[in-house]
Amino acid sequence: MSAESIPRLASFKSVPRFKEHLQTLHLSVPCDDDLVTGPECPLLQPLKKGSIRIGNRIAAQPMEGWDGTSDGNPTERTIRRWRHFGRSGAKLIWGGEAVAVSHEGRANPNQLVIADHTMPGLAELYATLVDDHRRTTGSDHDLLIGLQLTHSGRFSRPNASSRTEPRILYHHPILDRRLKLPQDFPVLSDGEISSIIEDFHRAAKRAQDLGFHFVDIKHCHGYLGHEFLSAHTREGSYGGNFENRTRFLREVVQGIRSVAPGLEVGVRLSAFDTIPFTPDPDRSLNGKPGPGIPEIASELLPYHWGFGVNPQDPITSDAAEPLQFLRLLQDLNIYLVNLTAGSPYYNPHIQRPALFPPSDGYQPPEDPLIGVARQMEFTHKLKQQFPDLIVVGTAYSYLQDFLPYVTQAAIRENWVDSVGIGRMLLTYPEFLWEASQGRAIEHKRICRTFSDCTTAPRNGLPSGCYPLDSYYKHSEFASLLAEAKKH
Ligand SMILES: Cc1cc2nc3c(=O)[nH]c(=O)nc-3n(C[C@H](O)[C@H](O)[C@H](O)COP(=O)(O)O)c2cc1C
Ligand code: SF4
Repeated sequence: MSAESIPRLASFKSVPRFKEHLQTLHLSVPCDDDLVTGPECPLLQPLKKGSIRIGNRIAAQPMEGWDGTSDGNPTERTIRRWRHFGRSGAKLIWGGEAVAVSHEGRANPNQLVIADHTMPGLAELYATLVDDHRRTTGSDHDLLIGLQLTHSGRFSRPNASSRTEPRILYHHPILDRRLKLPQDFPVLSDGEISSIIEDFHRAAKRAQDLGFHFVDIKHCHGYLGHEFLSAHTREGSYGGNFENRTRFLREVVQGIRSVAPGLEVGVRLSAFDTIPFTPDPDRSLNGKPGPGIPEIASELLPYHWGFGVNPQDPITSDAAEPLQFLRLLQDLNIYLVNLTAGSPYYNPHIQRPALFPPSDGYQPPEDPLIGVARQMEFTHKLKQQFPDLIVVGTAYSYLQDFLPYVTQAAIRENWVDSVGIGRMLLTYPEFLWEASQGRAIEHKRICRTFSDCTTAPRNGLPSGCYPLDSYYKHSEFASLLAEAKKH
């Protein structure tokens, strides 16, 4: 399969035509024929759980921009992005963007860091977001804002975008090879893990001082929190059985409750995964990567290096441990859960379905709508078993013009509590809000999943929507990106 052979959603001029395509693909995601606007709109219904109040069902997903300063402060571009998060009208701001708890834990040298010297900069981001949110919705009533706290683990690159400085928990037969790690590359010791846990405690206290209502202890996309969950082969108290693999989360939460009482905790989880994918070498031509294929080999079975993965058939998911994980969250009184999947580094078609691959990716191995439906269906399955959790869903941007029709149906039919919007925030942040108000949709601003916002950072440039946002299209980085895409 390649992008050319996949029907373009932009060419579907009506909802019935879109639904026909869903049927052709045997997908059963809900989709309404008409939009409901005003107070009855499912997307505008408030959410309440204990002391948590969220004014509507739209969530802004965390979206980083690789555009902070080398010491971890925001720049003008970062401030602009947070302005857009506010402008989205979302009453749940899930994290803003990944903010590292230490310099060593940064995913790139331009990632934000939470530390004493970045407090004024982070405060400005918060204030800007709230200002713009008020301008869109008229008030900041029931606006819940979190900060996503991260350590990038295996994917740390704190000092140069061209130099990986991995902090790994165990040796992974495929990812170690990709990162060129020798067999004796050191794994983090239990003592080093304790010190990272303390970094999370300090970071959470600072987030509370800044006024954030919750912190997200990031457990997704292959970063450190997520890697703990698949540390089956690690020895000692942070690896092996489920209790050990979730010890990091429990110790982070325990410390936060003690240093920052009253601060809510949330978790963004890659709820399922697959084995890493790679471009099919037999179908890669003239520098153009072929469709993605799983890097499976018989000696890797049963597969012991994934979470939410079926060990006998690691291309398929297994919900047993993700369900156990949600039970644990509930036992820890954590009610804010954001479900995503996979990783942008090793299976981007699972994590952010797109028609066009990023420069380090592969042609889509399936119609990206299948990827959207996979995340929606898995989220629905988990949500049904945990009605008390506030569940945010992910990966809707590929729905493009049909985003409001599908998401309003998903909320009404209880597939999910809140719809989290990622890439669409970069092009058309207020899309769902405007649709819920009955305003005309600006089709030219809709994200068409060109993936430049992923390709740019892969080439050491700031992320942004280069094709559709004139701020980036006419920036000094646009020609550098065009050049990088040629190679
Ligand atoms: C440029 C870019 C930056 C992202 N930054 C983050 C991040 O900081 N934290 C995170 O958890 N996910 C991040 N994501 C993933 C998104 O939050 C989201 O899960 C993904 O884009 C799929 O949702 P969508 O289909 O609405 O785009 C990022 C994605 C993109 C494209
Ligand atoms: S570059 Fe723009 S159009 Fe392309 S995926 Fe990113 S936000 Fe969407």
